Amino acid sequence: PVVLSQTKFVHRDSLKYPFEERGLQFGDGVYEVIRIYQGEYYLLEEHVDRLFRSLKAIKIKIPYSKVEITNLLLDLLKRNKVTEDGKVYLQVTRGSAARDHAFPEHTTANIYAYITKQHRNIENIQHGVCAITQADIRWEKCFIKSLNLLPNVMAKQVAKEAGCYEAILHKNGRVTECSSSNVYLVKDGSIYTHPTTENILHGCVRMAVERFVKNLEIPFIEKAFTLDDIDEADELFLTSSTSEVLPIIQVDGKMIADGQPGPISNKLQKAYEQDAN
Ligand code: PDD
Repeated sequence: PVVLSQTKFVHRDSLKYPFEERGLQFGDGVYEVIRIYQGEYYLLEEHVDRLFRSLKAIKIKIPYSKVEITNLLLDLLKRNKVTEDGKVYLQVTRGSAARDHAFPEHTTANIYAYITKQHRNIENIQHGVCAITQADIRWEKCFIKSLNLLPNVMAKQVAKEAGCYEAILHKNGRVTECSSSNVYLVKDGSIYTHPTTENILHGCVRMAVERFVKNLEIPFIEKAFTLDDIDEADELFLTSSTSEVLPIIQVDGKMIADGQPGPISNKLQKAYEQDAN
């Protein structure tokens, strides 16, 4: 069959992307981004567990167990002879089938994963980054690591155009998370962050942070902070697999405290580095 590709008519089989793929047409799939340090995955088990939670939540079945997916990812690393820092992008969609909103009956999930280089951004970690705030206009199941990222993409672009690193998202003034990371506020020695309800992604680095704070005996309070609280914050930081523990030193053009990365952010970043090694 002939199809239209960009402005050329080409044979369907020569398309460079899969024909009628539900990830492309509906965003009907989920994904993971897993960090690699010197050729080894970091927090692999947490990511695989979350992948299976996401799959279950959108009722995608794959013919692999957690152990089998883990082994496939380890094999991918070996076959690529990865020895440096990087990340793997893993995506699972409901598959390819004639376009229809309802689940197709005889389709198998499409799974793909690839590894790319990812250098650590030491500059950002040492000096901190700036952020802007945006209304969180996403759906009510943000605990699913869904391919539907349009609100996240739009928010990140606003941040980028403001010369900032991230967009802090809020629902009626209560901060949920960032466009592609979790966010935390420090006040009087305690850390505040949104509880892991269905409204945010339960970050794997956040899970690691929850371990670190126990050792460091830093109170970790799962309570959403507000935009007003940011004005009074001692520190603000974000976490993600690609950003690690990253201080936020300015929000909407206003400095956080003295505009320098704070001691708790720095301690957690050190704990992260030790844990990832
Ligand atoms: N993003 N919240 C959102 C909305 C995210 O997209 C991410 C990760 C996180 C942090 O999750 P973790 O600690 O497991 O990386 C929180 C990845 C990195 C991405 O989309 O590229």
